Order: sequence, then C-alpha cells, then structure tokens
Amino acid sequence: MRRENTRRKQVMKFYNTLSQVYNEVYRTEQQEKVQSLLQLDLSVSGILMDLGCGTGIALESFNTELAIGLDISIDMIKLAAGGNAELILSDATQAPIRDECIHTMLIITSFHHFPYKIKALKEIIRMLRFGGVVGISLLKVAGASLHIQLFDNAKELSKIKQHEGAKDIIAIYKKISKIPL
Ligand SMILES: C[S@@+](CC[C@H](N)C(=O)[O-])C[C@H]1O[C@@H](n2cnc3c(N)ncnc32)[C@H](O)[C@@H]1O
Repeated sequence: MRRENTRRKQVMKFYNTLSQVYNEVYRTEQQEKVQSLLQLDLSVSGILMDLGCGTGIALESFNTELAIGLDISIDMIKLAAGGNAELILSDATQAPIRDECIHTMLIITSFHHFPYKIKALKEIIRMLRFGGVVGISLLKVAGASLHIQLFDNAKELSKIKQHEGAKDIIAIYKKISKIPL
C-alpha cells in the first residue's frame, strides 16, 4: 500500500513536470492511437469517459452527449480545460462516477500507471453500461501483454477486436454481463 502511494506520487510529479512539453512531444503519436482505435471500429456515442485523459488529446476528437476526462495530474488536466469535456482530478481506481453510466471508455497509454491493476479493471467494468465499449491502447514496453490478459480474462467483457502495432496493443471490448463483481 505504502509502495503504491509512493509510486502514485512519483507518477503525479512526473506528469506535472512533463505537462509543460507533453502536447508538443506526444500530440501526433497520441492522435495516431485514437485513429487506430477508430479504424478498429470503436463506436463512440453517449457518455464518453477518457480515463487518464492527460491534456485531453483524445477528447478533442469526439463530439458526444457528454465527455468526461479523468486524470491524477493537476497540470496535465489543466491543459484539457477549455474543451467541451467535464474534467475530474482523481485516481482512476477511485473514480467518483456512478455505476453503469458510461457508454464509451477510452484508456490510452494510461493503464500501466494505474496502481492495483485488478482494482482499476473492476472500476472500469463498474462504470461501463451493459453493452458499453472500452477502447484501450497499451504500451508494449510497459507490460501490454500482461495487461491485455487481464481484460481477456474478465468474464464481464467480450473482446471485439485487437490490433498489434510496433509499440502498442490496441483492443476494443464490450461489456456483456451485468453480473456484479
Ligand atoms: C502517457 S499519459 C497519456 C495521456 C492521454 N491518455 C493521452 O493519450 O495523451 C498517461 C496519463 O495517465 C495519468 N495517470 C497516471 N496514473 C493515473 C491514475 N492512477 N489515475 C488517473 N490518471 C493517471 C497521468 O497523469 C497521465 O496524464
């Protein structure tokens, strides 16, 4: 627990500093990940949530009923302000969101940072509506193959599509069960 809290603080500090150059350095690369998810036929509708939204690069691409960006770094999320999304400063494993209200969830290059991966996955499933979809992009160098197994093994999710790129694994899942965890 203490180790995870220390790690969380390090991640916050790291992204607070990186925020100064993040868009300049990573915008194109992150936009390409959004495009890859769309090419895999990710359908984005209703209430959209971007978990670990950073500066809001992915949120810029969509015009939905309601878009929510959640991130743990104050300086990253500040840069997402000014867009159409509602922003929440929070840890992804303790999201202040009601059960089963998200139609589409994006998780782009952020899952590997979440402490307690199983807890994070349970939160994702809890927030998703029945029939809702989650589009993820996982960094290979940060354990993508292990993380994809967690999603594959979740009985509430069914994999719709997967694509393996040079640096990432991207996948789309649908929530197919209302069974409580
Ligand atoms: C590589 S950036 C990706 C940002 C954004 N998804 C993008 O595509 O540009 C990872 C983001 O995850 C956020 N993050 C890390 N740990 C988190 C946590 N426990 N809860 C919420 N966000 C977290 C960081 O603050 C950072 O903004």
